[in-house]
Amino acid sequence: MRNTRSRNRPTGNRALALSFRELTTSEEDRGILRRFYEETYRPAFPQPDEQEAVERLEGYLAFKARGGYGPNNYHILIALHRDRPVAGVIMDYLAAPNAGIVEFIVTAPGWRRYRLGSRMLRWAERVAAADARRSLGRGLDLMLAELEDPFKFADDHAYPDPFDRLGIWDGWGFRKLDFPYVQPALSRAQRPVTHLLLAAKPINPALREHVPSRVVERAVHEYIRWAMMPLRPARSPEYKRMRRYLARRRAVPLLSLRAYLGRAPGNLHVHEITGARDADLGRVARLYTDAFPASATSLRSDAFAASLSRSRRDGRYAYHLWALRATPAGGVGGMASFFTLPGAGFGGYVAFGPPLRGTGRFGALVARIEEQMVRDGRGATGWYVECDPSGPQGRIFRDLGFHEVAITYRQPALPGGEPYATADAPVLRLLYKEFGRVYEAPQLSQRALLSALRWIYRAVYGIERPGRSPLFADARGQVAKMPRGLVAWREPVARSHRATARSP
Ligand SMILES: CC(C)(COP(=O)(O)OP(=O)(O)OC[C@H]1O[C@@H](n2cnc3c(N)ncnc32)[C@H](O)[C@@H]1OP(=O)(O)O)[C@@H](O)C(=O)NCCC(=O)NCCS
Repeated sequence: MRNTRSRNRPTGNRALALSFRELTTSEEDRGILRRFYEETYRPAFPQPDEQEAVERLEGYLAFKARGGYGPNNYHILIALHRDRPVAGVIMDYLAAPNAGIVEFIVTAPGWRRYRLGSRMLRWAERVAAADARRSLGRGLDLMLAELEDPFKFADDHAYPDPFDRLGIWDGWGFRKLDFPYVQPALSRAQRPVTHLLLAAKPINPALREHVPSRVVERAVHEYIRWAMMPLRPARSPEYKRMRRYLARRRAVPLLSLRAYLGRAPGNLHVHEITGARDADLGRVARLYTDAFPASATSLRSDAFAASLSRSRRDGRYAYHLWALRATPAGGVGGMASFFTLPGAGFGGYVAFGPPLRGTGRFGALVARIEEQMVRDGRGATGWYVECDPSGPQGRIFRDLGFHEVAITYRQPALPGGEPYATADAPVLRLLYKEFGRVYEAPQLSQRALLSALRWIYRAVYGIERPGRSPLFADARGQVAKMPRGLVAWREPVARSHRATARSP
């Protein structure tokens, strides 16, 4: 269905001059493939670990011509404007999971946003459906696509922006298969790719909410076997890890990509406060005082404006203060105050009041904060929060994928406050979460934790020389006792897992 905006675009004129062609091994098609590869494919996928060599694509077409795919299939679909390839899809059909899988879809830069991508994808679905009828005598169950997870991979030069890109796939009907997908290394010279997710578009309505784990396992197995030849799934540690994970569950839930991005319609409206004159500053300060009644660990409300100007003066880190609303014109119903430090983020305060409280939007806020931390470009791949050991926040954060650092964490005095002796410092929990969906406890080096703590001391607590602080020395001493140079976590992994990755 077209919306008014796209109807006004000059789709018609351009579309008239296009022809559509599935490539074979003919001399002419090889020429088209080479041109498509050099002009459109390569510039769109510059990551060496994700790129396929053109010789391999030719090899797959030759393998297909020899009948090598059996009940499976492989296709390179190209849209041509005169003799110029302007869009392409590289895809497989896999009979065991009865799924089409889009390996790559790309539209040439001058041709984007004319609905050509949508048209190519519909074509790919028809081709996969024809394969399903031919191989199994029934309709197609699923379309799959391996996509970059924007929370795990900052790419400033990508078009569209990786967050928007996921939104486009959402519009195309794809959802995230909620399991820890890793693409095995494509060759010995390449590395496994850990910043991808596997998305699925259910064609069979029975798979709308969940896909049986055995179907997902077959899809991954067959995808590796056929699309990553000569890689053998049985020899791939990444495949074995995924198989073990899937074996423990009956089905894999499908998550809305927009919800994963924290951008579901009507989710949260964010207003970034940039200075003391912003009318929302007072509203946010009131919300803060209501949510955190004065205690040893609470800030004075004018501290927000001070944090804004301090971060601007410093420049090495970013500070954000957000006013949150349920609707753009509604009252301020929430606030978030957080820092993007070099290498890690830090969540200062987040609070919801009416009408946002209790409406299930906290996960969306976490996603939006993480998006901001990725966009700030300080190399952060996860973030810390401190929370009160007696309150319910610990459980809420754990359910979202935070893990507690196994130390007795003592909070330094707030900026402007009197420093206190180690024994008098309030004891809080220090939690950490990697950006995006979390399936297991993170592998975090002690060095990374200590570097983040130094930055938290400097930026959040105004302690310029953390190395001289007895509280920092106390934390460092506790961390040093953890084995293998890695951070140890307090909560058993299985506990937080249950809440984040549930089987029906
Ligand atoms: C992703 C890509 C294939 C889309 O191709 P396209 O021909 O522009 O797609 P369409 O014109 O059919 O757009 C599809 C929808 O996405 C929206 N969209 C496209 N580009 C967008 C952008 N940069 N920002 C936000 N929305 C965008 C369109 O408005 C349209 O939405 P609508 O149906 O609500 O109108 C193209 O941008 C591209 O080649 N990017 C580089 C390669 C890539 O990222 N491939 C995907 C990973 S394999």
